[in-house]
Amino acid sequence: MSTLSPTLKPSKVSDPLQLIDVDHVQFYVGNAKQAAFFYAHCFGFQIEQVCDLTTGNRDAAHYLLTQGNIRFILTSPLSPEHHAAMEIAMYGDGVKDVAFTVFDAEAAYERAVKNGAMSAYEPRVYKDDRGTVTMAGIRSYGRVCHTFVSRTGEYDLTKVKQGGLFMPRFKRLDGGSCEPAAGCAPQSGVGSSILEINEYNKKNPCGLKYVDHLVGNVELGKMNYWVKWYEDVLEFKMFKHFDDADISTEFSALMSKVMASGNHLIKMPINEPAHGKKKSQVQEYLDWHCNTPGVQHLALRTDDELHSISTLRSRGVDFLMLPEAYYEKVWDRVNGMLKQHGHEAVKEDHRKIRDLGILVDADDEGYLLQLFTKPLQDRPTLFFEIICRRGSQSFGKGNFKALFEALEMEQGKRGNL
Ligand code: FE2
Repeated sequence: MSTLSPTLKPSKVSDPLQLIDVDHVQFYVGNAKQAAFFYAHCFGFQIEQVCDLTTGNRDAAHYLLTQGNIRFILTSPLSPEHHAAMEIAMYGDGVKDVAFTVFDAEAAYERAVKNGAMSAYEPRVYKDDRGTVTMAGIRSYGRVCHTFVSRTGEYDLTKVKQGGLFMPRFKRLDGGSCEPAAGCAPQSGVGSSILEINEYNKKNPCGLKYVDHLVGNVELGKMNYWVKWYEDVLEFKMFKHFDDADISTEFSALMSKVMASGNHLIKMPINEPAHGKKKSQVQEYLDWHCNTPGVQHLALRTDDELHSISTLRSRGVDFLMLPEAYYEKVWDRVNGMLKQHGHEAVKEDHRKIRDLGILVDADDEGYLLQLFTKPLQDRPTLFFEIICRRGSQSFGKGNFKALFEALEMEQGKRGNL
C-alpha cells in the first residue's frame, strides 16, 4: 500500500480538534540558509520557498523544505530581539513547533484553550489576494508549541502540496509548478546551487514520505502530566506504553507512553528518564537542552527502508552502529514472531539489511524496519529515525535493548554516561 500521504478525509467537521494533516514542523536554527543545504544534501529535501529580507520580512528568515508530505520550516532570527534568538542560544537548533492543519484554526485554538492549554499566541490572519492562512498557537512541553493552521484559496494545503506558495510573503526558489504570478516566479539572485541540489534530489530521491511519529523528552516524573495534557487539551488517546522493564539495559533506562490523535494522523511518544546505574539518554538530552523538555526525534516514514538508508548513507548521513551480534539473533526472533502470528517472513534481503545496519522488529500485526541517525547538531539532542512499516504499528520494542546499548556507547564517547 502506498504511503504517499497520510492525510485523512474529514469525518467530523464539527470537531474543531479534528486534525487534517501535519501542516509543517518548524525548527529554530542558527543559520537557516546553511541548515537548508544540510537537509537538502544529506536527506534529499527540496529547498522550495523562502520568506526573508528579499520578500519584505525584516525580523527572520524562513525556508520551506519539502519531501513527500513532509514540510519543514527552518527559521533563523535576523536580530537579537527576535524570540528565536534567545531560544537558539539556550537550546541550540531544534524543533520549535509541530503545526497541525485544521478546518478552523481559531475554533481549534479556542477549544484547546478551553481544555486547559496555555496560549503561545492568539489567532493571526495572513492574507493577500491569493487567500488566507490563519494560525494560532498553544504551548506544549518545554520549548515546544503546537500551531493550528487553517487555509483558504491558493493557500489550501492541497495546493501547497502541488507547489503553491506556503503563505503570504513566501516566494519559490526553484520555479516549480505554480503559475507564474507576483512572488511566484523564481527570483533573480537565486543561487544556482539551490537549483542544482533541487534538481539532483528530484532525480535521486531518498523516499521519505511523511512524519510517522514525533517523540518528546520530558523531565523525571513529568511523563504522566504530559500524557494527561495530550488527552485533555488535544483530545488524544493513549496508544501504547512502555516501562523501564521494556526500555532498559544494565546501565540506563527510560519510560515512554505513546499518544495518538483521534484519527492516528500523528503519534507522539513521551519519554521520561528512569533510574539506572548510569545516565539515561533522556537525561543526557535534558542536560544539553537547558533541562527543558523538547522533541528528541522525528520518525520519517519510507516505503523502502533499504533504498532510503542506502541513499542517505551515500549522502553522508551518520547512523547509529549496532554490534554485529545483533544480526545473530534477529532473524529467529523476528521471523519466529511473524510465523507465530501467521504472517510472511521479512521479505527484504536479510544480508542487505545487515550490510546497511538496519534494525528489524515484529509484533502480532507484522514487522517494521528502522534506523536512527546520530544527533543532527553538535549538541546530543535532536535526531531522526527512518522507519518502514510492514503491518507493525509499534515502535521497535524488541530493538530497545540493543539500541540503548549502542546509544550508551555514543554517550560514553561524549563523556555523558
Ligand atoms: Fe521512534
